[in-house]
Amino acid sequence: MLKLGVNIDHVATLRQARYRDTPDLWRSEPDPVAAALLAEQAGAHGITAHLREDRRHIIDRDLQCLRDSISTPLNLELADVPEMVEIAIRTKPYIVCLVPEHRSEITTEGGLDVRGCEASLKRTTQRLNDAGIRVSLFIDPDLAQIEAATRVGAQAIELHTGRYADHFNRKDERNVELQRLIQSARAAYSAGLVVNAGHGLTVGNVPVLHVVPHLAELNIGHTLISRALFVGLTAAIQEMLDVMKGYRP
Ligand code: PXP
Repeated sequence: MLKLGVNIDHVATLRQARYRDTPDLWRSEPDPVAAALLAEQAGAHGITAHLREDRRHIIDRDLQCLRDSISTPLNLELADVPEMVEIAIRTKPYIVCLVPEHRSEITTEGGLDVRGCEASLKRTTQRLNDAGIRVSLFIDPDLAQIEAATRVGAQAIELHTGRYADHFNRKDERNVELQRLIQSARAAYSAGLVVNAGHGLTVGNVPVLHVVPHLAELNIGHTLISRALFVGLTAAIQEMLDVMKGYRP
């Protein structure tokens, strides 16, 4: 069964828009932890949160609360920098997804350059694994990056579906992106990696993504929180789970 990891960063973004300077104010809302609990009740198989170095959405306190309260696996997205690795080791999520991070970006814009940072990613993966934490690498669907991810010793990859989503309405370009995703998923699976995917996915583009083999989990945030404004989070998640049911691994 294809699993759904719900990314709750976007709930925290809304809270920080009002309460960034008064994080301990009792009435700060909306609470991303409450959203995570609701997502679990709605059928989410996991919760994803990204602690950015600039703390623009998720803050340290959220992580601890998430760790203490959710019952599905926590997927913690982090940049490969010492401060974040220490936080991950203290928090002990089920899995860490290492992502590239640039302060000026609105959201994670590209995949990790695993080949370019192989030595550091290998060290970090080993440290996290030694602490009992699995490691995933957020990468573009590129065979050279998959090979590098294997050498690094990661347990999983998350294929960046942003280009697929961006080109969805142009069939030829969409098919090129789909082919890249299909080949990458095959190569990663053959190398023993768990294959996840995410970024820019919606109920409109997920059904076409079903042609990509070996997918274990989709990580989805923006569209679910956007849709929740109109139909509520439970309904938004159930709509997504419904379209994911058609996936045949
Ligand atoms: N996966 C990763 C690694 C991400 O950084 C993000 C964006 O926060 C997502 C998945 C979810 O992307 P979206 O919000 O577009 O669904």
